Amino acid sequence: MSLYAIASSLADALSARFEEAYKTRPRIFRAPGRVNLIGEHTDYNDGYVMPAAIEFYTWVAVSERQSSTLHVESAQFSEAAEWPLDGLSGPPTKHWSDYVRGVAAVLGAAAYPIRGANLMIHGQVPLGAGLSSSAALEVSTALALLATGNRPAPPTELAQLCQRAEHEYAGTRCGIMDQFIATFGSAGHALMLDCRSLEYKLLPLPKDVRLVICNSMVKHELAGGEYNRRRADCETGVRILRQHLPGVRALRDVSLPDLEIHRNEMSEVVYRRCHHVISENQRVRDAAAALESGDLARFGQLMYASHRSLGDDYEVSCRELDLLVDLAAGQEGIYGARMTGGGFGGCTINLVRSDLAEKFRNEVAAGYARETGMQPEIYICSAADGAGEWKPA
Ligand code: GLA
Repeated sequence: MSLYAIASSLADALSARFEEAYKTRPRIFRAPGRVNLIGEHTDYNDGYVMPAAIEFYTWVAVSERQSSTLHVESAQFSEAAEWPLDGLSGPPTKHWSDYVRGVAAVLGAAAYPIRGANLMIHGQVPLGAGLSSSAALEVSTALALLATGNRPAPPTELAQLCQRAEHEYAGTRCGIMDQFIATFGSAGHALMLDCRSLEYKLLPLPKDVRLVICNSMVKHELAGGEYNRRRADCETGVRILRQHLPGVRALRDVSLPDLEIHRNEMSEVVYRRCHHVISENQRVRDAAAALESGDLARFGQLMYASHRSLGDDYEVSCRELDLLVDLAAGQEGIYGARMTGGGFGGCTINLVRSDLAEKFRNEVAAGYARETGMQPEIYICSAADGAGEWKPA
């Protein structure tokens, strides 16, 4: 079955289920998950990232409702939630519906008119796998809600509002990467983003390379505090460095020699966090140059270096992710591998020659099962398009 056929039958099923429940035909919006090829934990430091959208989407069916309430149900979990439009605010409850409530609240606060609506959600993005299911839910929900209000938001603002919803309603002080790529992704391309200026460049990925995603099946938990703690460590570094280098607004503005000069003024942990971020920013720029010149071997080396830095300096990898990278490195047709996303479990991203991707999947799965007793899920993907309304061809 082609990807279009799979998407189309999914949209039809969601639409039919919606019609049965609400007796009206919905409009359908979707937003993708993502992998990040390189540039991890750099976005909230005003740095560079290089994600790509993937062919797993979160789908939202929507229609107006004749009352000022928002009703949302998950097609998968058979769970529903409902709020009056003037009662959306409130602290995180650690439930998936926080994302929906948060997006609605943030849009309303930004003066986007939101009407009462019924929403039905179907998520294809694996949950807790570091593939950004939360941003996919936020962005698809935002598009669906905006459609009821008839005032579209410019895409960059849409991404920023969804990021705000995640800060305020899910409690993760995430950067802009996930919401941005969910909005701006483009099939066949990675996206190099400057997270300070929000300028971006689409970089074509070679046609004979696949993005192979290996899910360690270890659930990661970003809101668990470690993520926010890493961000706070970086801010501590900036505060110390700024006393000597007044131009420094974020780690983006610091060079490795400057960090070395002031190393003794910070704790060993803060030093290592800063070292990762500063070196990772350079790796993203080098990786973009490598991709543009078709040097995949160099790109792959930078991926391995990124993984090491995330493990040693940033301490967000884990035994299972390290094992997946080691197994990948021994395979035929591999250019590079690294953990992707926030870390503490989740997935690795592997750049693999298309004709060897199946073999890669089998060998890595067997090796991982042998070592851990766990069966990894391995997805062979290509870069996909960003969010939008689903219109059958
Ligand atoms: C999560 C966040 C992103 C980014 C990554 C790490 O996915 O949502 O903003 O910080 O972690 O690179």
